[in-house]
Amino acid sequence: MSGGAGYETLLVEERDDRVVVTLNRPRARNAINAAMVEELHAVCAGLERRPRLLLLTGAEGVFAAGADIQELLERGREEALAGINSRLFDRVARLPMPTVAAVDGYALGGGAELAYACDVRLAGESAVFGNPEPGLGILAAAGACWRLAELAGVSVAKQVLLGGRRLDAAEALRLGLVAEVVPDGELLGRAHRLLDRMARSAPGALRLTKLVLDARGPHPLADDLAQAILFESEEKRDRMRAFLDKGASS
Ligand code: COA
Repeated sequence: MSGGAGYETLLVEERDDRVVVTLNRPRARNAINAAMVEELHAVCAGLERRPRLLLLTGAEGVFAAGADIQELLERGREEALAGINSRLFDRVARLPMPTVAAVDGYALGGGAELAYACDVRLAGESAVFGNPEPGLGILAAAGACWRLAELAGVSVAKQVLLGGRRLDAAEALRLGLVAEVVPDGELLGRAHRLLDRMARSAPGALRLTKLVLDARGPHPLADDLAQAILFESEEKRDRMRAFLDKGASS
């Protein structure tokens, strides 16, 4: 149950059905530095070993103000080719169980890309999404150039990435980028309720649904194979019998 042990840049709360991760470098507006990347990889490793839901948020009213610009300044071609952030965010996107980003305040640059890599985003009223990378002489190379287009459409992605448009919470909601906007003070509670709802589903069914949803192109064979696994599961039989028995007894 405890949080934070052994982490320098994150607060981590482990529960039976979920892990709650708070990006926690508030003095740098939770900018994602190498230590945070390493620690998020450690969290991913734990979630791959023992799949659970992930709730990701930021400390002190900010999600994350991007990759750490101090470190970016020193990075060269080799670091870019190593895909320091893109590989982490891909790993987050491929986590076995659903992930929810609870975003209040700034989610800029790499912070926005990390939120884009999650399965569902909830916004506090103060949330602002943006990708100001070209202003710093670089591009948003950790997923924004394709994930944002998938989530909100190419037109919106071009407005954000080329036009420097920032999306506030209401705009993000209208564009479907976030599922819901709630007052900042209610954001975590609302996110936990969403995870509670997810946790009531069969974990194996959630896991396979996520895998199939994320498969590219039409994939009826993958759907059938995933269903074949689930149809044979004890959990499916128990859940369906419980539903039918309840009907019979009412
Ligand atoms: N990397 C490194 N440090 C960062 C940072 C980042 N991405 N974002 C903020 N910080 C640091 C600032 O340098 C400042 O440090 P200091 O106190 O030692 O001077 C501290 O966090 C607070 O930032 P400040 O700009 O004073 O806070 P603010 O609340 O006025 O503004 C932001 C918040 C997010 C609007 C502003 O910090 C910002 O524009 N950050 C950069 C966003 C960006 O370009 N991200 C893309 C990176 S690729």
